[in-house]
Amino acid sequence: MPTGAGSGIGRATALAFASEGARLIVGDVNEPDGLATVAAVQERGAEAEFVRADVSRSGDCAAMVERALRRFGRLDVAFNNAGINLPVAPIAEVKESDWERILAINLTGVYLCMKHEIPAMKRGGGGAIFAIITSIGLTGIASRFSIVPRSRSLVIAIVVTNRVENISTMQTRPGTTLSTVSCSGL
Ligand SMILES: NC(=O)c1ccc[n+]([C@@H]2O[C@H](COP(=O)([O-])OP(=O)(O)OC[C@H]3O[C@@H](n4cnc5c(N)ncnc54)[C@H](O)[C@@H]3O)[C@@H](O)[C@H]2O)c1
Repeated sequence: MPTGAGSGIGRATALAFASEGARLIVGDVNEPDGLATVAAVQERGAEAEFVRADVSRSGDCAAMVERALRRFGRLDVAFNNAGINLPVAPIAEVKESDWERILAINLTGVYLCMKHEIPAMKRGGGGAIFAIITSIGLTGIASRFSIVPRSRSLVIAIVVTNRVENISTMQTRPGTTLSTVSCSGL
C-alpha cells in the first residue's frame, strides 16, 4: 500500500511491487494520477485499487487501510511516501500556513498512516512499514533552511523509536530523483 502513489517514487514503487506479484492499494490525494497508476499496474497483470486519501486526515488513512483489509483480507507492506515540497527559504520568510501544511502532510501524515496500519498488520501476524525521508533531514543545508528536511528528521525519530513486534519499520532515503517534488526546489 504505497501512499502518494500517483506519481514519482510512489508510482515507481507501485509498479515494482506489481512486477513482484503484489496486490495493491494505490493511495493518493490526486485521483486522476492515482487512477493512472492503477491502470499501469493492471497493464502489468497485477491487481490494484485506487483509494483517494489525504494522509493529513486520519479518517482518510483509516479508510485506505480498511479498503486493503476488505479487498485483500490483510495488509503486509505499507510505503508511507506521500509528501510535498516548498522552495528553500530563510526561516523568517517561511509562511505559517506553509509550515503547518508541510508538517501536516510530511510528518503527521506518516504518524496517521502508521496509527492505522499497525493494528491492521498485527491482526495479520506482522508486516513491514517503510517511511520516506531525505538525507538532508540528517544533515541540513549550511546557511539555508528548508522545512521539508526538518519535517523528515522527526519522521526518522518516529520510525527508529517505534519497534513493534513482528512489524519491521524502515526508513527509505532516496537519492535526488527527478519528480514534481525535486523540481520544486528541495
Ligand atoms: N524526489 C526526490 O529527490 C526526493 C528525495 C528525498 C525524499 N523525497 C520524498 O519522496 C516522496 C515522493 O516524492 P516524489 O519525488 O515522488 O514527488 P511527487 O510529487 O512525484 O510525488 C508525491 C505524491 O504525493 C502525493 N501527495 C501530495 N500530498 C498528498 C497528501 N496530502 N495525501 C496523499 N498524497 C499526497 C502527490 O499527489 C504525488 O502523487 C515525497 O515525500 C518526497 O518528499 C523525494
